[in-house]
Amino acid sequence: MTVTIVGSQLGDEGKGGVVDLFGDAADVVARYQGGDNAGHTVVQGGEEYKLSLVPSGAVRGKVGVLGNGCVVNPRTLFEELDTLRERGLDPDVRVAERAHVILPYHRVLDQLEEDVKSDDDLAAGTTGRGIGPTYEDKAGRRGVRVGDLLDAETLRDRLEYVVPQKRALLEEVYDIPIEDHDEVDPDAFDIEVLYDQYREFGRRLEAEDMTVNCGAFLADRLEADERLMFEGAQGTAIDIDHGVYPYVTSSNPTAGGAAVGTGLGPSVVGDGEVIGIVKAYLSRVGTGPLPTELGAVDGQTPEDGGRPGGADLAEYIRDEGGEYGTVTGRPRRVGWLDIPMLRHAARTSGFTGLAVNHVDVLAGLDEVKVGHSYTLDGEKLLTMPPTTERWADCEANFRTFEGWPDVDWETVAEEGYDAVPENARAYLEYIEAELDTPVYAVGVGPDRSATVVRESPWE
Ligand code: GDP
Ligand code: IMO
Ligand code: MG
Repeated sequence: MTVTIVGSQLGDEGKGGVVDLFGDAADVVARYQGGDNAGHTVVQGGEEYKLSLVPSGAVRGKVGVLGNGCVVNPRTLFEELDTLRERGLDPDVRVAERAHVILPYHRVLDQLEEDVKSDDDLAAGTTGRGIGPTYEDKAGRRGVRVGDLLDAETLRDRLEYVVPQKRALLEEVYDIPIEDHDEVDPDAFDIEVLYDQYREFGRRLEAEDMTVNCGAFLADRLEADERLMFEGAQGTAIDIDHGVYPYVTSSNPTAGGAAVGTGLGPSVVGDGEVIGIVKAYLSRVGTGPLPTELGAVDGQTPEDGGRPGGADLAEYIRDEGGEYGTVTGRPRRVGWLDIPMLRHAARTSGFTGLAVNHVDVLAGLDEVKVGHSYTLDGEKLLTMPPTTERWADCEANFRTFEGWPDVDWETVAEEGYDAVPENARAYLEYIEAELDTPVYAVGVGPDRSATVVRESPWE
């Protein structure tokens, strides 16, 4: 059986924590898209692990897989593995030979294009990890795959084809003299240097027996009646197809990505459960419109974004929720829950269950609002319009819920759902009804023990 974990908003919904919680009963945890742009937090008995590439199941000793849909920076991967090993864990991570490799020039190009785009307000505020340029090369059929690192001749051929193109891009399009520029490391554009470094990564992957034919590997595990968890990164509203293009990431976090990005069929994913992870409010790192945004964050919120008088509340929630990017440390933008966004997410991925996190963060407020619908050109909308420009024109129509008190959330988690304050339950039940999907778990704190579990997706 499979359980797929999908971010239903803009990333950072607390997916890592839910993978940790429900992944305990899994044998394998596989990522199916994205790369080290992700920052997934697992808190276990007060110990915090922030994972970018290593699947969150590693903290509990599950086999981790980076599927073919991922983009893998081997340097980050080995650094992360080494750090986890120093902390006493023994992660077992396999990497799909079909996954694409992030090379140093991808990071340089990511940053350069963001700088250029920012003149036209088109920058997505990327994590700068080279994610977009690597997926571009994948689609352009000039990428380097993990399997190529294992084969000296193929690696050399790939680099000899692609590196001169990247050099020309820098020197002729961006007018940057590679060998004589303060901010560009010439090694990132040097075939010999890249060959030596990446061939070495290939040797290490081989020596540690880390590479797999992902689909076949996972199919064998299923055949042996093992339980597979698919760990989505990012979220639906930053999905390249279903999100707020162009302020998106370059992959498909939605559940369809779990099939394409692992090499198993959609029926396998659809036969299992698909859990939408919901943050009880919105947070956003990066740019683009956000109709329910509270305060504005410089450099990220578009002009006239945010709500009048919302800045204090945004700051309060940001501080209570620790809303600073896991990867970049940037303050996250904050808004009320956006129900049209969630309806869109539930449809796109076919959620069978929900986990609603950060219910504790909103505790103590007099009232809590949600954007229930939008008004666009005088018409009421219940879901997101297909273009980002139209979304920017949407006015959110709010519903107000009475606030709930701050309580001892660890005790609530122990006692179960009935111990959740009544007004918080009303809020959760409203979400359930609007999405026509049951809430399986309620996050009331960062630690795994601070989760109210109503139902296990495996049963
Ligand atoms: P992910 O990218 O979806 O895995 O989420 P992140 O790890 O980037 O961000 C979620 C943050 O919220 C982390 O610091 C988590 O430890 C924390 N967190 C997760 N669930 C809860 C919750 O229910 N309550 C609170 N207060 N924090 C939570
Ligand atoms: P997790 O898995 C939140 C955002 C970036 C930017 C856009 C494109 O922790 O939820 P990219 O570097 O992917 O090309 O950036 O997507 N972004 C995320 N926002 N959580 C994430 O991951 C994100 N990964 C990318 O801020 O707006
Ligand atoms: Mg995150």
